[in-house]
Amino acid sequence: MTLVLGIESSCDETAVALVRDGQTLLAERIASQADDFAAWGGVVPELAARGHVASLPGLVEEVLADSGLETQAIDVIAVSAFPGLIGSLLSGVTAAKALAMAWDKPLVAVNHIQAHLAAIHLSHEQVAYPLIGLVASGGHSHYYLCSAPGQLELIGGTIDDAAGEAFDKAAACLNLPYPGGPEVDQRASLGNPKAFSLPRPFKRDPEVKLSFAGLKTAFLYQVRGPQGKQELALDDQGINDACACFQQAVVDCLVDKLVLACQDQDCQRFAVGGGVACNSGLRDRLTAETAQRGWELYLPEARYCGDNASMIASLGYYQWQRGDVAALDFEPLPSGRMKDNQARKR
Ligand code: KG4
Ligand code: ZN
Repeated sequence: MTLVLGIESSCDETAVALVRDGQTLLAERIASQADDFAAWGGVVPELAARGHVASLPGLVEEVLADSGLETQAIDVIAVSAFPGLIGSLLSGVTAAKALAMAWDKPLVAVNHIQAHLAAIHLSHEQVAYPLIGLVASGGHSHYYLCSAPGQLELIGGTIDDAAGEAFDKAAACLNLPYPGGPEVDQRASLGNPKAFSLPRPFKRDPEVKLSFAGLKTAFLYQVRGPQGKQELALDDQGINDACACFQQAVVDCLVDKLVLACQDQDCQRFAVGGGVACNSGLRDRLTAETAQRGWELYLPEARYCGDNASMIASLGYYQWQRGDVAALDFEPLPSGRMKDNQARKR
């Protein structure tokens, strides 16, 4: 049995979790700063970093207390190391290094995007690879060919905005609070998805390519007039209709290209992770598409889709098994991969 303590602080969620053997969550605490940032309309990086510093020590203590375990029981510390906001990443990575040093435990540096896909191991006891993975979050909307947890090859994705970012911007056009995705999702279930006509960019393009910038602009013009500058004139039902139409357009784009990626790679197994994987329209459509095609779908439970530390601990476990351990002086990166010379093999 291997017990991994996971730490997540790449954006505005501070989270700590204890996971057994990459699959079983023993305890998790998440402190979200989303409410604090609603007034700003988005994350303020410096404030987010300070928020992580304030929350982390208490969360570690709470998770240990919830699990009833002592620090000696922990085998590995795994931390979200890239990509993300650099100040936020530094808060979590510094805490993880301090714990690894104080408790004399190995440290594993986890890629946050890869962890969103590894989250399927927390909700599915058996996972067969290879599979096609879609990560749809606030900063990413990309498709990967996955041969094992954390072993991903990029197939395609968005050329501009991410799906979550598009949801947030559409919500802002409708004067809905940040983060907009959950609010659009809730209202979409009450709206008419045919009320507005919106494009599906790259629909006929043979490449696994997404674009949400044009869709977002088309939406803005529909709800705020030809220059996008008029006051919002929709009533409550009109806003619900607009949400239903926008959500349907995003879901169509994401799922069409997922099917294309599976066909291109001759793979009938797929997984979806990231905050947008909470979206009920997307989840329903994925379930229906899978049933109709006889394909296999791995979808994490909603609590493992948004930013969380369980997914970091889960992928940390698989990396640890492969001997992928980080040096204590490794540096987190806002994007990309850790330099080879910062990682050492166990
Ligand atoms: O994965 P995540 O928690 O953080 C990042 O790594 O970016 O994703 C956050 C994004 C936000 O843009 C948020 O609006 C979106 O996921 N989101 C949703 C839903 N829940 C969260 N988008 C659509 N429908 C939802 N139910
Ligand atoms: Zn994320």
